[in-house]
Amino acid sequence: MRKLPNTVRTPGLIQILHWILSPMGQMEACAKRYGDIFTLNLMRPVVFVSNPQALQQILTSDTKEFEAPSDWNTVFEPMLGKNSVITLSGEAHRRQRQLLMPPFHGDRMKVYGQVMSQVTEEVMSQWQIDKPFSVRNAMQAIALRVIMQAVFGLYNSDRAEEIEKTLCLLLDERENTPIRVLQLYFPALQKDLGPQSPWGKFLRNRAKAHQLLQEEIQERREQPDASRTDILSLLMAATDEDGQPMTDEELRDELMTLLIAGHETTATGLTWAIYWIHKLPEVKEKLQAELDSLSDLTDYSTLLKLPYLNAVCCETLRIYPVGMLTFPRVVKTPVSMCGYDLKPGTILLGSIYLTHQREDLYPEPKLFKPERFLERQFSPYEYLPFGGGVRRCIGTAFAQFEMKVVLATILSQLDLALVTKNDIKPKRRGLVTGPHRPIEMAVISPHQV
Ligand code: HEM
Repeated sequence: MRKLPNTVRTPGLIQILHWILSPMGQMEACAKRYGDIFTLNLMRPVVFVSNPQALQQILTSDTKEFEAPSDWNTVFEPMLGKNSVITLSGEAHRRQRQLLMPPFHGDRMKVYGQVMSQVTEEVMSQWQIDKPFSVRNAMQAIALRVIMQAVFGLYNSDRAEEIEKTLCLLLDERENTPIRVLQLYFPALQKDLGPQSPWGKFLRNRAKAHQLLQEEIQERREQPDASRTDILSLLMAATDEDGQPMTDEELRDELMTLLIAGHETTATGLTWAIYWIHKLPEVKEKLQAELDSLSDLTDYSTLLKLPYLNAVCCETLRIYPVGMLTFPRVVKTPVSMCGYDLKPGTILLGSIYLTHQREDLYPEPKLFKPERFLERQFSPYEYLPFGGGVRRCIGTAFAQFEMKVVLATILSQLDLALVTKNDIKPKRRGLVTGPHRPIEMAVISPHQV
């Protein structure tokens, strides 16, 4: 009986460094050598899986043969706290998910559509003809303001602005160094060496964010308003089976989770989409023709169903998925997978990146071809940018909707161009991925149909 599948033999420290610096390159090299399943030693052996049947096995029975523990999600704890749906597991995770899911249900999306277009227009109004701007910064501003409105309701206040600013500092691109990534994986390195040290800066920004969120919670407890339907109000009114409401600390951690998971990922997806659309003239032409044929951009049900816009968004999240992996699953009872017998305790990661790069599913996988999504349908285990099973992304409908509304709003009003047409590659950005260098664009002219 073979124990762990295709164990990589390079010294452990080299594997960890490679993982920190170039996770996608490392996964690709291993897949080339070993195929659909292999084991890396990242402090503990971790089995990487990119075979759709095996992914189906993991994600469809992940409460019976597998579990989604929280101890491997501790890398998220410094940022999101220990009461976040991401860092909880078992029954506590299930309960918290139930509380969080309703505001993200597909039916509620139309409520957010107007906010999404309005915020996009606000940010676009700052762009000037021929003056380059950073796409990522612009998309981050849009996505952050949108999630702020969804979470806190439609309001502009000094506190909202302060929260936005503090979250931007927490996620500042310039702080995203290999040292910061190492600190996330190795808690022993999380040392506060003063306000200018990487961890010191992070702790101070986080304390500021916590203080602002606590003030908001406090104010709402003191002045309850039953007419509000924003996510924070829904969470504050929710109670568990014993009739207990969420504590301030629980509320704070869930707010951090929604605000951070809810905007960084979508902003990166949008940045890539804008890059590809303007990099490839034939893609731009087809998409523009489809959008120009739409008489009413606020007819969100029609917008959502536009086939080419949908294919562009799908291909964007296929080629360089923002989340390159599912959260870990652990084997609970002995299972057989890809010809290997896996023992209880084995840690598995679904490699979204490698699955999306499979030649057998996506011929010429390095090419951006939205047509793939018009020509065939992919199963949820062949195409899984939002993961699957008990930890499937709760923001799936929200993010897909937001990408479409923002792209349609921009393309229907402005003609943009990339400042340089050089290729942009994906790289690690903390625990997710993003473009390896800033992408700059400029407005050429208002769009005319
Ligand atoms: C393009 C945008 C996004 C991408 C690519 C993305 C991707 C993912 C992935 C891959 C997972 C892990 C799933 C698994 O392990 O099976 C996840 C989980 C999660 N996502 Fe997203 N996400 C996006 C947007 C959002 C938004 C807008 C929100 C909230 C408003 C959100 C909130 C979450 C939460 C709370 C979880 C953890 C769920 C749990 O542990 O039960 N995400 N996301």
